Amino acid sequence: MAPTLQVTVNGMEFDNPFLLASGPPGTNARVIMKSFELGWGGNVCKTISLDASKVINTNPRYAKLRDPGNPKTVIGFENIELISDRPFETWLEEFREIKRRYPKHILVASIMEEYRKEAWQEIVERVQETGVDAFELNLSCPHGLPERKMGMAMGENPEIVGEVVGWVMEVAKLPVWAKMTPNVGSITAAPGAAIKSGAHGISAINTILSVIGVDLTSLRPMPTVEGYSVPGGYSGHAVRPIALRQIMEIARAFPGTALSGMGGIYTGEDAAQFVALGCNTVQVCTGAMLQGYEVISALKEGLLSVLEQHGFDSLDQLRGAALKYFSTHANLVERQKEAKAKKGLAKAVASGADATTWQGDIKGETDSLTAN
Ligand SMILES: Cc1cc2nc3c(=O)[nH]c(=O)nc-3n(C[C@H](O)[C@H](O)[C@H](O)COP(=O)(O)O)c2cc1C
Repeated sequence: MAPTLQVTVNGMEFDNPFLLASGPPGTNARVIMKSFELGWGGNVCKTISLDASKVINTNPRYAKLRDPGNPKTVIGFENIELISDRPFETWLEEFREIKRRYPKHILVASIMEEYRKEAWQEIVERVQETGVDAFELNLSCPHGLPERKMGMAMGENPEIVGEVVGWVMEVAKLPVWAKMTPNVGSITAAPGAAIKSGAHGISAINTILSVIGVDLTSLRPMPTVEGYSVPGGYSGHAVRPIALRQIMEIARAFPGTALSGMGGIYTGEDAAQFVALGCNTVQVCTGAMLQGYEVISALKEGLLSVLEQHGFDSLDQLRGAALKYFSTHANLVERQKEAKAKKGLAKAVASGADATTWQGDIKGETDSLTAN
């Protein structure tokens, strides 16, 4: 029997685990419905707030880091985009319309508010009446909003995360995922606080604070707006290893909690790695912005091919499969010692053979120590 990509998370039935992450891919009803039409399992709308009049964007607001050897390849992507600048009432109407036309597709409302209980409870109560399937609390946007004590300003403080999630849980009747910022020392502290306050799931990661570069002609940082800039949020290929590490830590710390992983997913094989590290669903923002909504067909094919390769029937068998292979460095050394001893290389181990590697051919010697 062919494997299936269907997953059930917090009681929600996804046709496949691919959601568009909060951002431009879910910025209005038209594009959300287009994504459903093309086969995305779900869509997390662009983050909304009660008063969109406070949200004013700049142009430009994106910048790309290109591969110097192949400038067509975008390695990393920075944005200084804020949350949705579209009126709250318009969003409520659109949520109703989307759910009326696509009752089976999963629509997650990404919400953010100021640090006030009444504001968070009002947005939850008004949005859940529209029929959306779940909430994602944006506690993680790293730029612009922290000036209003929103986004990452909350998410980097586990106490505030616990408090805000608590306010939400008092009134929420739907599954609630808390979206985490990677711009912290310990990635498990805020998820721990969110789960303790009752969150049903964790989404990670939001973007990584960055300065994508300096224009050496003008000596202005980029993206440059009227000659000036601010640090922005980094996403795309370059952030995937950081996202995978943080997902791994969250998955190991909170087994059984629904985990929605993102950060640099462009292919089904990228997504499979997030699942192998414990994710129930995966989200894609930059990968969709750079490849188009149509990439969903290739994403599904790629993920299915990984399941087929291992003879798995469903994502349940892939989920978390790689987690048990993380160990300590001391244990790796011990394992290598044993492996070498078995091959009769005990002497080389004892004398620290690696110390003699570096003779001056640093490029070749680096290659000889590289795994892939
Ligand atoms: C242009 C842009 C706008 C974004 N806007 C939001 C947002 O409104 N709310 C949010 O939670 N995350 C937002 N994000 C973050 C993404 O949802 C995602 O967490 C991050 O980009 C990492 O995933 P990726 O590498 O697939 O883009 C935005 C990202 C980009 C690139």
